[in-house]
Amino acid sequence: MTRGPAREDAELDPSLELDSSPFRPDLLEGRVALVTGGGTGIGRGISLWLAAHGADLVLASRNRDHLEPAAQEIRALGRRALVRPMDVRDPDRVATVVREAAHEMEGLHIVVNNAAGNFLTRAEELSPNGWRAVVEIVLDGTFHVCRSAFEPLRDSGGGAVVNITTTYVHTGAAFMAHSGAAKAGVLNLTRSLAAEWGRHGIRVNAVAPGLVAGTEGARRLVESVGRLAEFEAGVPLGRLAAPADVARAVLFLASPAGAHISGAHLVVDGGESVGGKFGGHEDA
Ligand code: COA
Repeated sequence: MTRGPAREDAELDPSLELDSSPFRPDLLEGRVALVTGGGTGIGRGISLWLAAHGADLVLASRNRDHLEPAAQEIRALGRRALVRPMDVRDPDRVATVVREAAHEMEGLHIVVNNAAGNFLTRAEELSPNGWRAVVEIVLDGTFHVCRSAFEPLRDSGGGAVVNITTTYVHTGAAFMAHSGAAKAGVLNLTRSLAAEWGRHGIRVNAVAPGLVAGTEGARRLVESVGRLAEFEAGVPLGRLAAPADVARAVLFLASPAGAHISGAHLVVDGGESVGGKFGGHEDA
């Protein structure tokens, strides 16, 4: 597979803050990372942060059109990028993609379960099929990917899984019963796998973003429930998370920086979940 131009020739998306990374650019040199839903939103941010720090990427999601532009950006950073259409709900397809990607990339060291699906709905109006769709994507999908990745991670000398959860896993959230229950399951799965797979050198952690600016999820929530300023006023650090904030946390946990961390749940929400609504902002 051909490599793109060297990193210094690539134009970096300034919103991803890659030029001000606190990490060494070769932190993940020689590592291969699989990111589900890696072409858009938070997943794209994570993929580009991993690539900008030396990793080669496998991007997998339902829609190839969502993946190709991100793959081009990764190649422009001088890293390899494979694009694999895959619905995480299909265990056979997941197994094939993970096995073939690990073979083609000659290893697998990092897996980021970022693919998700949700919509705002009253629980009493949620159809069984709507419930099933979200739980199958979020919880079942994360399990299928983890299970398929176990052997390649182990055989690559160990590795790191990072599952993307949410801040409402502990509290629940109105209109998100399906997503909250599924993400809570993902957190528990994260800890069970951390307990089982540590002896194989595989660390399993989770990152819980609050509302992330610029994503489809944020747009929908703000449109349905309120104005952006109201959400920001509820964040002690004074702003919503950006994809770069989540990506930095994932990179930390996936890299040697997180070498002795497993089973952790790292919240990236500017303190929103502990600060309470309008906490710390006297003028809010
Ligand atoms: N409100 C209520 N029910 C909804 C809905 C909405 N906005 N969107 C989907 N559903 C229901 C459907 O009506 C269907 O139930 P039914 O058969 O009883 O009518 C069920 O969910 C499955 O919908 P479908 O569109 O067939 O599923 P899908 O597998 O193609 O889509 C979803 C998965 C439901 C998660 C869809 O919302 C999606 O793909 N979203 C885009 C990705 C996304 O959400 N990303 C996360 C952003 S934070």
